[in-house]
Amino acid sequence: MDRKIISAALLIKKAKKVSALTGAGISAESGIAPFRGSNGIWKKYDPEEYAHIDSFMNNPAKVWKMISELLDIIFKAEPNKGHLCLSAMEKSGCLYSIITQNVDGLHQAAGSRNVIEFHGNNMLLICMACGKKIKTEKEIYRKIPPLCPCGGILRPDVVFFGEPIPQRAITESFAEAKSCDVMLVIGTSAVVTPAAEIPIIAKENGAKIIEINIESTPLTDAVANISIFGKAGEILPEIVKNL
Ligand code: OAD
Repeated sequence: MDRKIISAALLIKKAKKVSALTGAGISAESGIAPFRGSNGIWKKYDPEEYAHIDSFMNNPAKVWKMISELLDIIFKAEPNKGHLCLSAMEKSGCLYSIITQNVDGLHQAAGSRNVIEFHGNNMLLICMACGKKIKTEKEIYRKIPPLCPCGGILRPDVVFFGEPIPQRAITESFAEAKSCDVMLVIGTSAVVTPAAEIPIIAKENGAKIIEINIESTPLTDAVANISIFGKAGEILPEIVKNL
C-alpha cells in the first residue's frame, strides 16, 4: 500500500497536467450513500422507476419523493477529507480539473474551482414550462412536485437516464481526458457510460490512470496503472502528504 501511494504521488509530481474523475464513492464519507452496492440508493429505488426521464414525465410527484429525500441528505452533507485534498491539490498546482458524476456540489463546497459536472447539479431547478432557473431551497420542494411561479413543474438540473449528457460537459471532459497525463479515478463503479469511457480515452491518449476505490472495478485490471484500495478520505491525504 505504501509503495503504491508513493508511486502515485511520484506520477502526480512528474505530470504536467493531472485531472480527476470522481463518482459517488468520494461523497460516501460525507454521509451520501452511493448508487450501487449493498447500501446503494438503487437498492431502495429502482432506477428504471425513479431515475428515468420517462418516469419523471409520467409521475413527477413520485420521482420527486426520492429527489427530496436525497436533497435533505445533501443539504446536511459537508465536504470530507477526500474533497478537501482535491481542492488543496488544485490550489498547489498539482491538479488541473475535476470531472464529477456527482450532483451534490461538494467539490465546489470544498473550494475546488475547475469542476465539470458531467451529470448536472441538484442545487438548481429548472421549470419545464418556462425554462426559469431557480436555486434549490428546502421551502421550494416542501410540496411535491414543486412548482414554478408560472405554474410549471420544476425539475432538478440533473441528467436522468434516457437523457443525453449536456454537450458542453462531454466536450470539456473528453478534452481533459485527451490532454492530461495523469488521471485520478476516485470512487466510481465505472459502469455508466459515457462517463466510464473518460479514463479509457485518457489511457488511449497516453495518460497514467490511478484508481482509488474500496473495491475493484472494470477499470482495475484493464485500464488502471495503479489501483489503491481504500477509502478516498483516507488514501488522498496519504498521497497529498507525499507530494
Ligand atoms: P456507484 O454507486 O455506481 O459507485 C460508487 C463507487 O464508489 C463503487 O465502486 C464503490 O466501491 C466506491 N466507494 C464507495 N465508498 C467509497 C469510499 N469511501 N472511497 C472510495 N470509493 C468508494 O456511483 P457512480 O460510479 O458515481 O448517474 O455512479 C455513476 C452514475 O450512476 C451516477 O452518476 C448516477 C448513477 O446512476 C445518474 O444518475 C445519471
